[in-house]
Amino acid sequence: MSTSKIDNPYQSGFGNDFATEAVAGTLPVGRNSPQRVAHGLYAEQLSGTAFTAPRRENRRSWLYRIRPAAMHGTFAPFSQPAFHNDFGTGPVSPDQLRWSPLPLPETPTDFVEGLYTMAGNGSAEGQHGVGIHLYAANRSMQGRYFYSADGELLILPQQGRLHIATELGAIDIEPLQIAVIPRGVRFRVDLPDGASRGYVCENFGALLRLPDLGPIGANGLANPRDFETPVASYEDIEGEFELVAKFQGHLWRADIGHSPLDVVGWHGNYAPYRYDLRRFNTIGSISFDHPDPSIFTVLTSPSDTPGTANLDFVIFPPRWLVAQDTFRPPWFHRNVASEFMGLIHGVYDAKADGFAPGGASLHNCMTGHGPDAATFEKGSSADLSKPDVIRDTMAFMFETRAVIRPTRQAIDAAHRQRDYQACWAGLQKHFRPPAG
Ligand SMILES: [Fe+2]
Repeated sequence: MSTSKIDNPYQSGFGNDFATEAVAGTLPVGRNSPQRVAHGLYAEQLSGTAFTAPRRENRRSWLYRIRPAAMHGTFAPFSQPAFHNDFGTGPVSPDQLRWSPLPLPETPTDFVEGLYTMAGNGSAEGQHGVGIHLYAANRSMQGRYFYSADGELLILPQQGRLHIATELGAIDIEPLQIAVIPRGVRFRVDLPDGASRGYVCENFGALLRLPDLGPIGANGLANPRDFETPVASYEDIEGEFELVAKFQGHLWRADIGHSPLDVVGWHGNYAPYRYDLRRFNTIGSISFDHPDPSIFTVLTSPSDTPGTANLDFVIFPPRWLVAQDTFRPPWFHRNVASEFMGLIHGVYDAKADGFAPGGASLHNCMTGHGPDAATFEKGSSADLSKPDVIRDTMAFMFETRAVIRPTRQAIDAAHRQRDYQACWAGLQKHFRPPAG
């Protein structure tokens, strides 16, 4: 058994053509698949886009590994009934929906066992849409490795750090950081803090990318250099292990006699990455009104329709509010797109209470929502002669062009708040038509 040791474990940049090796001399020069790879390794290409995707979209990496990914036993169904893509085809209620945090498990539960599907749309087969999941786990994956063939995974811890050991290197994240694991990349999640909880968005559509900035210019929002991709590291370990695959919405398992995290060197632009949400350069109004929440987009998965995303990952970070003659909190609105929200920590500025860190809300297409009664009264009477500041908070939204269908288990869950709509019941009628 051996494991590589590394000093500086990350490379900066978004979608760069990285090159990294844990053992000197691993990467071939001038070709991808020489007749004999250095150090007795195998060469293997991992394609994340069609071979013929335009160059600006094309993602692939070349892996130089101890054994090819083809080496494992036969797959058989793996039972984890809470994690799936069965979003149903029946009626979807237009109600506003909200959930308290997913309870932490009381029995030993690893990351894969702790995934709990809340909602979604589209499918892996259709190559559009998202799966929206929570996880609640209390132990590291032991002898188990996982990959999703269905979509890339955007992971947001809310409680507890994650050590994600992947084929292409290791990523450590804590709450307020995110990780994206590409479709197909095998990984293992360790929980250094024990009981851990968070959110996962599975993207079936076009790969997440940085949004265009338009008139904002060359800088702002999430800057490319703040994205970090791991350097190569590998495990040379043999044993009785298990490979769990998510394929077409369901889980499968196969025996594997070695760690699949055995890539000694790799080069290419298809790789996992992490980002610290505290580095987001928040842009906002300095006159009146505030922009649509798209101004807070960290990453976007475009659809075939320009400007209409398969998925926008949007955050609501700490920021100053200075706009004048303006209702400063998020306004009442209805949206052709559908909005699933979560909260990493603090308080979201449209809700006085009930939206707890680790909780979630769902406002689907054209469902009215906005500040609760207490927030409306406060926002309507606020002293706008002074700036206000929102500190110590981080809410986020997965916004999709298609309706987000809650799963049966999410609708029936004990932690769903049956009285959510009551938060708007206290809004007063203020209309006073002029006399005469
Ligand atoms: Fe909204």
